[in-house]
Amino acid sequence: MKTQILEFNPEWIDSRLLEAAGDVLRSGGLVAFPTETVYGLGGDALRGEVSRKIYAAKGRPSDNPLIVHVGRIEDVDKIAARIPEQARAAMDAFWPGPLTIILEKKPIVPDPTTGGLRTVAVRMPDHPVTLALLRQTGILMAGPSANLSGKPSPTTARHVRADLDGRIEMILDGGPSCLGIESTIVDFTVTPPMILRPGFVSAEQLAYVTGSPVALDPAVFGKETAGKEAPRAPGMKYRHYAPAADLILVEGAEPEHVVRAIGEYVLRAAAEGRRTGVLTTEENRERYPAADVVRCVGSRRDDATVAAGLYAALREFDDLGVDVIYSESFPGGEHGQAIMNRLLKAAGHQVLEAEHGRGHGP
Ligand code: TXA
Ligand code: MG
Repeated sequence: MKTQILEFNPEWIDSRLLEAAGDVLRSGGLVAFPTETVYGLGGDALRGEVSRKIYAAKGRPSDNPLIVHVGRIEDVDKIAARIPEQARAAMDAFWPGPLTIILEKKPIVPDPTTGGLRTVAVRMPDHPVTLALLRQTGILMAGPSANLSGKPSPTTARHVRADLDGRIEMILDGGPSCLGIESTIVDFTVTPPMILRPGFVSAEQLAYVTGSPVALDPAVFGKETAGKEAPRAPGMKYRHYAPAADLILVEGAEPEHVVRAIGEYVLRAAAEGRRTGVLTTEENRERYPAADVVRCVGSRRDDATVAAGLYAALREFDDLGVDVIYSESFPGGEHGQAIMNRLLKAAGHQVLEAEHGRGHGP
């Protein structure tokens, strides 16, 4: 099929373009849409056959439930059996925004949309184009990230096209996603509410707004497929966001140690004939002269810039045919938990410790 690309000016949204996208959705087709986190792949959430098409287009296992995107808070009543007080407080405080909430579902939500679960994930995205689309059409849109399964989530329409051209009807280009990593997911069907995936909305913010303690799913930083602790967000069990190259995270007590250790790993890998990449920030970008490819993902002074640049950088390493990527690590900052969760998954939990300024291990 031919994939149509509609370019939007987010400052002045052309409602005729929205109508065209609405036509595709109403006819059961798929439309990739911009959000503030990452691009999503949308289809009518209330039609099971459409959700099956979404899985097929992404090449995604069909037990992995989809997030339903809504344009109005009232829409949640159509699909959720019960909205606890705390969930309502969180929606009021953070929507539209990077927060997905899990609620008990109503029977109207078909099994393929929720991967057969009794619960449904709901989010109101904060992007003028997509909000206008949802509000104008009244459609509830199932939407996973618009990447092929196993690829980093797309943060531009170009990324979506690279993965899904010819596999979906339409891409809405609303410019780059400003946050760059997926929404925080909170399960409100358990007490206390539990974070299944960290994101820009933090546990502290949620606790403040809901007046309740908020737990963190132990699977968030555990190695996947450990077996015992089944992750509550089924999608978290897959090796996600993975670049084609080997990705190795380098941690260390001092940034200095990390820089020196990465320098040594690069030399060693180069000696073995491997093409090397380093993922770094403004602060250290000049310090890896031996690496074939150095990608800077923002500045440590504001780690939101690191989140914003992360997935695009991982895709670039792939495009440039790098064999092994060494990445600095980014714990401790305001968004450190969310960034490290994504990096650890992309690295398949390969972490090296830089000790006393020397690299060791492979
Ligand atoms: O920022 C985002 O959330 C983006 C944009 C497009 O909105 N969407 C996104 O969707 O990241 P996706 O499908 O890539 O990730 C959804 C995650 C998966 O890990 C899935 O397992 C989990 O949400 N999930 C969905 N429904 C769930 C449910 N009922 N219970 C537990 N986890 C659920
Ligand atoms: Mg995804």
